[in-house]
Amino acid sequence: RPPGVRLSVNGRSHTVEVEPAAPLLFVLRNDLALNGPKYGCGLGECGACTVLVDGVAARACVMPVRGVIGREVTTLEGLGDVACPGPTQQAFIECQAAQCGYCLNGMIMMIEALLRRQPAPDEARIRQELRHNLCRCGTHVEILQAARRAVA
Ligand code: FES
Repeated sequence: RPPGVRLSVNGRSHTVEVEPAAPLLFVLRNDLALNGPKYGCGLGECGACTVLVDGVAARACVMPVRGVIGREVTTLEGLGDVACPGPTQQAFIECQAAQCGYCLNGMIMMIEALLRRQPAPDEARIRQELRHNLCRCGTHVEILQAARRAVA
């Protein structure tokens, strides 16, 4: 049996029996049933798996779970839920920014991270922030609208 790893996710403490080198994304989805972060490329390239670690965006598919011991992880679920979405989530809902929706976890978490360190970013900054998050449907216009609404 692997040793227990203690994690703090969305303000709650968990002990999971996983290898310390296991990707954080797998632990969140498989052990904690937090399915907001998505598995896209598994290589740190698409952004679908983005979470916040101590408020900073991180790609959970390439982060070993041992890397977040003693730190606070926030997933999409930590921002709000269907009944009570957080402000960034609400902006994406209002702009109907999803087509297939697979990339939206990453888009929302990137904007959330940006707003936590820079409350009023301009358009260029928003675009810069999202430039490494891939959307295969091409719904970038709505995503940028939603990001601007989240800032407003
Ligand atoms: Fe993590 Fe693509 S799944 S960056």
